[in-house]
Amino acid sequence: MAQNTLTIALSKGRILKETLPLLAAADIHPLDDPDSSRKLILDTNQPHIKLLAVRATDAPTYVNYGTADLGVAGKDVLMEIEGENLYELVDLGIARCRLMVAGQPGFTPAGHRLRVATKYVRSAQRYFAEKGEQVELIKLYGSMELAPLVGLSDVIVDLVDTGNTLKANGLAPMEHIADISSRLIVNQHAYKLKHDMIRELVQHIQEAVNNG
Ligand code: ADP
Ligand code: PRP
Ligand code: MG
Repeated sequence: MAQNTLTIALSKGRILKETLPLLAAADIHPLDDPDSSRKLILDTNQPHIKLLAVRATDAPTYVNYGTADLGVAGKDVLMEIEGENLYELVDLGIARCRLMVAGQPGFTPAGHRLRVATKYVRSAQRYFAEKGEQVELIKLYGSMELAPLVGLSDVIVDLVDTGNTLKANGLAPMEHIADISSRLIVNQHAYKLKHDMIRELVQHIQEAVNNG
């Protein structure tokens, strides 16, 4: 983390596509196409700025350890971690969706604790605890919609955007937990050390978001 350089951890997948125009507004352009090149460290037109292409769930880890100064991560991912070295700087308003409880329409669990399958164990735990409901959590890493169909769980806690995935599997949204969008995050130490450089970048990105 040299003092005159900036490293930004970008989530691969849907966040990356929506982040590139925001970086462009700050005159940051990757030299290689992040989609087609298999590179994970991308140089940019600004020699002191590098991008890291990471898994969406890993972006906060790189920033928390200071390996990246800045990063972009979904609020869903941020709600699952203890990011003690992080600040959330900007709500980028991209990759918008909702964290929801979903299940088979008309389903009512009988005689046992509600079984909840989810990648978002911590958010689900917190949500049901606040409702005073004791649930059994089943950790999955994807394709949550399958769980109620095959009897692994009663309901799921997952992201919903268009609702197409739920509908295609005969499921319905039941309860809204949180609105989700991606956030620009910064390592707290880097924010002090590289304050001017980061503030300038944030200003350009904030303007692009506002005009967005
Ligand atoms: P992953 O492989 O980890 O699921 P994604 O690219 O699918 O990576 O998701 C990255 C982030 O995009 C999530 O953390 C969430 O904030 C957001 N996201 C996920 N699914 C959707 C969706 N269907 N619509 C909009 N945003 C989404
Ligand atoms: C996400 C999420 C839902 C779906 C919701 O999955 O986990 O399954 O999108 O979007 P919709 O309401 O518009 O259908 P994704 O496509 O990212 O698959 P994966 O994360 O399981 O690979
Ligand atoms: Mg996904």
